[in-house]
Amino acid sequence: MSDMKIYTYPEPVLKRNAEPVENIDEGLQEIIDQMLETMYAAPGIGLAANQVGVLKRVIVFDGSPREEGSNPRVLINPEIVAAEGSIRWDEACLSVPDYTAEVSRKSNIRVKGLDRDGNPLELEAKDLLAVCLQHEIDHLDGILFIDRISSLKRALYKKKLKKKEKGKSNK
Ligand code: NI
Repeated sequence: MSDMKIYTYPEPVLKRNAEPVENIDEGLQEIIDQMLETMYAAPGIGLAANQVGVLKRVIVFDGSPREEGSNPRVLINPEIVAAEGSIRWDEACLSVPDYTAEVSRKSNIRVKGLDRDGNPLELEAKDLLAVCLQHEIDHLDGILFIDRISSLKRALYKKKLKKKEKGKSNK
């Protein structure tokens, strides 16, 4: 069982910059394990530490098709070092419930970081995995996918959210 809570918009922690990880210790391993559990339980294909209230540059993800089984992955201090092409993808986020919107991203990226043991890791990603990694790395910079849609669409989302909140408090 995981006891991590996924924070949702407009929780301030989602707008903050996560700090680079300097020590990969037992505490961090625990956070990583809990993040993976939380991601699979949600279920989601990616989760950034901000989303569970931890301001460390850590993301977990699993972009493999369900029929191939799970392939839990971790990137510490991820950084996009090359990017090309463009792709539009209907994105969703565990921190932005009940909403999807098309976002423009790079279609092919190369990402550098550390694996869970602190070994340097470089990986290439395209399409869904590239979108997922850009989305998660955005979280570490305090950016949500709704920050990358038109202001009109964003305003509509906020309106919808307000209505939902109002409905809750009226019950
Ligand atoms: Ni997200």
